[in-house]
Amino acid sequence: MNGNFTYCNPTKLYFGKNALDGLNIELKKYGKNILFVYGGGSIKQNGIYDKVIEILKINNKNIFEDSGVMPNPTIEKLKDGIDKARKAKIDFILAVGGGSVCDYAKALSVSINCYEDIWDKYFIRFEDVSCKIVPIGCVLTMAGTGSEMNGGTVITNHEAKLKIGHVFNENVYPKFSILNPEFTYTLPKYQMVAGIYDIMSHILEQYFSGNDDNTSDYISEGLMRSLIKSANIAIKNPLDYEARSNIMWTATWALNTLIAKGKSEDWMVHMLGQAIGAFTNATHGMTLSSVTMAYYRFILPYGIEKFKRFAINVWGVNQDNKSELEIANEGLEKMEEWMQSIGLIMNISELGVKEDMIDDLVKSTLIMDGGYKVLSENDIKKIFKDSL
Ligand code: NZQ
Ligand code: ZN
Repeated sequence: MNGNFTYCNPTKLYFGKNALDGLNIELKKYGKNILFVYGGGSIKQNGIYDKVIEILKINNKNIFEDSGVMPNPTIEKLKDGIDKARKAKIDFILAVGGGSVCDYAKALSVSINCYEDIWDKYFIRFEDVSCKIVPIGCVLTMAGTGSEMNGGTVITNHEAKLKIGHVFNENVYPKFSILNPEFTYTLPKYQMVAGIYDIMSHILEQYFSGNDDNTSDYISEGLMRSLIKSANIAIKNPLDYEARSNIMWTATWALNTLIAKGKSEDWMVHMLGQAIGAFTNATHGMTLSSVTMAYYRFILPYGIEKFKRFAINVWGVNQDNKSELEIANEGLEKMEEWMQSIGLIMNISELGVKEDMIDDLVKSTLIMDGGYKVLSENDIKKIFKDSL
């Protein structure tokens, strides 16, 4: 294992068909004024809203609602939410939804008692929290981001054409998260598939870094194999509990910091995807899939050993009389076939990107330095062009 690290994950998880019962136990630990945060209304259609309201009422909570959290939540929405939460003197935030709702709730939790410019402080200067944090809990309805067990929050600023994530420390993690795989059954297929690829991408971003023998990579390979198997089942039968529960659990472990331990991590696919998201507001997982093949084909020569290992251990590529390069390329081909077979978006044109937008996209892309090559602006331009 490389370097020194600490590992602490304070989020308590309730998993399974009865997971929502955990809300009764948890709510007792917090004050009366609850901000119930949710998205565009899917929870009203599938009955989760009514179930949550019933539990809040049984626990004699004062319920304040903050609805309409959009996919890729915006800084404008966040500012409205801060005002609402301040007026209601909120004790606890309950996020019920996907990654966008959980992320938004975390951004609120660090902003309600902060009187500085939130965008500049957290998303430009990346400062830590210096005010009292309002605790949050999540009831997850979509598997993908891992937001249910981490300190990440991603906010979009359309005016600045920036979509930026801030990963906070453990004090911002949800106090608890409720994971009932059945709550994800009503997800449209497009969202389910986008979530599956978001999980895959989180694992890849951590896996494709370093050349040491690292326990984290063995865990990552197991998670990827489970995800590929369960995704193939869920595509055919979205109501397969076993597959949906594996996908949900894999999502959590893909981004709760465990598999990053001892690793430098890459995250360039996310940086490219976030630039596309800032310009197109496209679905997060699809922004990642649309640049994935161009990025990994570009990076492969710099990390060939790991790409070979990926081909053999994740995709079962056999080594008979093949060069290292052939094996590595075959692994990527298998991944590409799998991505196409589950219905992912494989190019940025389909998300609304035109060639004349590429220079601006390059300017919006943050460059990270943990992967096999630190990209130059020209490299980024080439990857976007190859992704068209
Ligand atoms: O708004 P509602 O009506 O709830 O509909 C949502 C939304 O339209 C719908 N949905 C969610 N659960 C449903 C459902 N529809 C029917 N039945 C259900 N059970 O799905 C749509 C997408 O939801 P969203 O929350 O936006 O998706 P996701 O979970 O993929 O979250 C995306 C956001 O998370 C950020 C992304 O950048 C993006 O802003 N990320 C957060 C990360 C983190 N905190 O660590 C890491 C990720 O890499 C990612 O960047
Ligand atoms: Zn992601």
